[in-house]
This record gives sequence, C-alpha cells and structure tokens, in this order.
Amino acid sequence: MGKVVVVGSFNVDHVWTTAALPRAGETLSGEYATGPGGKGFNQAVAARRAGADTAFVCALGDDMGGQLARALAAADGIDLRGQRSERSTGTAGVYVDGEGRNSIVIGAGANADLSPAFIASRRDLIAAADVLLAQLESPAEAVLAALRAARASGVITLLNPAPANAVVTAELLSATDILTPNETEFSALLARHVGERIEGDAVAALDQARLHALCRELSPAGTVVVTLGASGCFVSHAEDVRRGDDNAYYRIAAEPVRAIDTTGAGDAFNGALAAAIASAPDAPFAEPIRRAGRYAALSTERQGAAASMPQAADVQARFGP
Ligand code: RIB
Ligand code: NA
Repeated sequence: MGKVVVVGSFNVDHVWTTAALPRAGETLSGEYATGPGGKGFNQAVAARRAGADTAFVCALGDDMGGQLARALAAADGIDLRGQRSERSTGTAGVYVDGEGRNSIVIGAGANADLSPAFIASRRDLIAAADVLLAQLESPAEAVLAALRAARASGVITLLNPAPANAVVTAELLSATDILTPNETEFSALLARHVGERIEGDAVAALDQARLHALCRELSPAGTVVVTLGASGCFVSHAEDVRRGDDNAYYRIAAEPVRAIDTTGAGDAFNGALAAAIASAPDAPFAEPIRRAGRYAALSTERQGAAASMPQAADVQARFGP
C-alpha cells in the first residue's frame, strides 16, 4: 500500500443548499447541514478511501470540532497528527446552488497556527511517505517546511495551490514536483509568476501547445495538472520527467456524471491522485490522472465535502478497474 502524508486544514463545514447563490443584500432560505471539511482533511479522506495508508498533519482547537476531526480520522483509519491550538477549530460557510456550484467563506481558526516547528517534529513521518500532499489553507511557512522536508527525503511533493486567493511564492513552486491548480488558481498563478493575464474561464479553451508553454514557464522542472471541472484536466510535464508518458502534454476528459454537489471535488481529485501515485510511482502518469478523475467525478454525485469521498470499490463498480 502506498503511503501518503497530507498536510493541511480541517474545517467544520456549515452548508446551505439553495436554488441560487446569495447576492449582496439578499436573504434566502435553504436546507442546512453540517459536516467535516477543510481542503486538507477532504484530501486525506480521499487518499485513504482511494486506498493509501494515510496520515494527516493539521492544527485543531480544543473543542468539539477538534474532537470531531479526531473521531472521523480514527473511523477512516487515518493517522491524525494534530497540533493543539488555542483558537477554535476551523470553520467554513458553504452555499451550494441548484446546479451543484458553491461559494465558500472560511474562518481559518486553528488552521492558522500550524507551524514549521510542528512540521519539523513530524519529519520522520514525512520521510517515510511516498507522496506529500499539501494545499494553502494552512500557513505558507508550514507548507513550505513540509514540502522541503519531503524533498530532503526523496518523497514526491504534490501542491494543490488552493484557494485561489492564497499567495503562492516562488519558493513553494520550486519545492513542488506536481502542481494541481484549477482554472481560477492557474489564472492567478500566471498573473503572478508568468506576467500573463488570462481569465480562469478562458483557460479550458486555450490551445494545448500554448497551455504547455505557460505551464513550463510556471514550473520549469515540474509537472502541472490544470483541473478543468467537467472538462477534465490538462497535464504538462517537464522534458525530463515524462513519468512514462509518450507525450509531454495531453488532455484527459472527465467521466460524465450528474453532479449535485461539487464541494470538495478538487480535493477528491488531489487525494486520489496522491494515493494512485503512491501505490505505483513508476506507472505512466496518465494512469493515476485517470483514476483521480474518476474518483472526483463520483464525489460530485454525493452531498458534502469529506463525507462525499467514495470508497475505491464504489469507483470501480461505477467506472471499471
Ligand atoms: O474544498 C472544499 C473545502 O473548502 C470545504 O470543505 C471547506 O471547508 C473549504 O476548506
Ligand atoms: Na461532493
């Protein structure tokens, strides 16, 4: 079994499902539910259910949210290593509309306390992994410390540069082997690091050779996977890291699904991708990408964030091995 360490956030999600997303000054009513979330935790649950031996390094408050995280991690067989914080456990307000789209507001709380020192104290755990996966709902210094600790031990580093408003520094990029922005995040990264202004909703329509060139400028030595929602994803490899693929760049279509809630779909993709790479690090890269796409597709047919992560067997039953 491949080993994945996820470094990131845990949030208690408060979710309202409404016909349309609320606008300024508007009062709407909808169905309310609460459940586990946070990009880090969602990705850890996805990695675990996709079949990896998974540890989750996070920061939690000494409260019910923290207890929930520990209990749910234990129930899924995730090895949770939680830094204790004086602040309350992270929260998120999530609105989901009739088409499964969402708007999210995050209260970082304890997540903001995850420290490089705590990461350093988990160095052995990281060194024993096949893949280290992180996002940016935790402090950039802590994420950088994790990526560098992984690199120092030859562990593959995967960075999901989410949310889109996070500042992705050049140091973070150069410590990353595989970068997985969605269109909006890719657009923000291009503006910051390549000096190109391309709107997120124009990314999917770009010519593939052009997309590849932009990815090469963004991450000259790494692999970039731009996730495009229902349009699948685009993969771009550096010349010397083709990972067994014939082509330096290609697009992979998404499985057709009836999405009811896309919250955490990106997390499903990243967690499943980490698990697939960890279990077969030398397989042609298109294979883990395909697995991750299927895994994420199925998650959108279920409500919730972490709760919507399918088991590997469900994905096989639906899409085949
Ligand atoms: O990616 C989805 C997640 O973003 C939600 O679970 C919410 O907690 C926010 O972190
Ligand atoms: Na979902």
